[in-house]
Amino acid sequence: MKILFLDQSGKPGGAELCLIDIAKPYRDRALVGLFADGSFKTLLQQNHIPVEVFTHQPIQVRKQSNLLQALGSLGQLAPLVAKVVQRAIEYDLIYANTQKALVVGAIASLLARRPLVYHLHDILSPEHFSKTNLRVAVNLANRFASLVIANSQASEAAFVQAGGRAELTTVIYNGFEPKLYQTCALDTSKLRQNLGIEDKFVVGHFSRLSPWKGQHILIEALAKCPPQVTALLVGDALFGEQEYVKQLHQQIAQLGLENRVKFLGFRADIPQLMAACDLVTHTSTAPEPFGRVIVEAMLCGKPVVAAKAGGATELVEHGINGFLTTPGEPEELANIINSCLEDIHNTATIANNAKAIASERFNVVNINRQIAQVLSSKLIVY
Ligand code: UDP
Ligand code: GLC
Repeated sequence: MKILFLDQSGKPGGAELCLIDIAKPYRDRALVGLFADGSFKTLLQQNHIPVEVFTHQPIQVRKQSNLLQALGSLGQLAPLVAKVVQRAIEYDLIYANTQKALVVGAIASLLARRPLVYHLHDILSPEHFSKTNLRVAVNLANRFASLVIANSQASEAAFVQAGGRAELTTVIYNGFEPKLYQTCALDTSKLRQNLGIEDKFVVGHFSRLSPWKGQHILIEALAKCPPQVTALLVGDALFGEQEYVKQLHQQIAQLGLENRVKFLGFRADIPQLMAACDLVTHTSTAPEPFGRVIVEAMLCGKPVVAAKAGGATELVEHGINGFLTTPGEPEELANIINSCLEDIHNTATIANNAKAIASERFNVVNINRQIAQVLSSKLIVY
């Protein structure tokens, strides 16, 4: 099966990292078309996945746009659609991995007469999107997609709640290669030394810096923990959230936590950094569609505490393979951090349990088999 994958992003967010694993088995007969240049293209090339940047013109629709803005952006899409149609006729299937890719992919699927699959990585709810964008995404998926792959039951439920056709959907979680998350103890202790955290209780947060990812909740919780508790914030403001970064620095200064919070920026060595942590936190204040970082922490054998909403509740069972806290509640998060600090034995048992379960449940081999099955069963020849 020859697949034309489409993704709007030039930067590697979770949906893009997931796409790398999905496209890999098809790389000798696939193309990933991007709507922006950037480091995601380089990552695809490093994985020997053919990639082409279809436009260098930024598409202006924002996540919270109104109907006029949405319509206005349709005109600027014409050259991009033409390019996608031209490429699509060489492929059997168009696989849209993001919302703007769905818009372009839907029109191209009609013109090139190719089936369309939409991989839904978002919770299509008013918390995350404007009404217009919700309506556009759901209507296009309903009308043009042969299949909607939702990254969690939460994303699937929100799609149906927003008017999406339930019979189009199937839930497939992100897949991971467990051996990439095995690290060497000696390297970990060197890394802790280099970061100046060898004698600390290290709480890691691995996420782009964005208000709904809730780094401010961790900082507030940190102020309620003993002084040896230190936070690593790994990730960058990928989509221009500079104002939030400024606020985080102000919050840290106000709480006098300058020596207990380290910003590491975007990093490619996530398994190594997770291994250097004692606990990994996930603090999204809006429901997380899936939450790759939660699974990655489990695969690294690290205890993880996640915000209890969206896909995270499908990944974590409180007290069994991790911990759950109410989103936006720093007090509760601080209590969990403190109890992990005090009961290292029980916490390690939970983390080991999580590693064993996650290595099976999210194994990329099984996940890719599920993808291959649904693609071949849903492939409708026009
Ligand atoms: N990530 C990374 N470098 C960083 C921060 C995050 O490679 O500095 C990765 C992280 O390991 C995870 C992904 O980015 O695989 C984020 O995916 P997630 O599903 O957690 O959240 P998203 O940003 O997609 O909403
Ligand atoms: C999106 C979601 C994230 C999910 C990722 C991969 O970026 O925000 O929750 O884990 O896609 O499906």
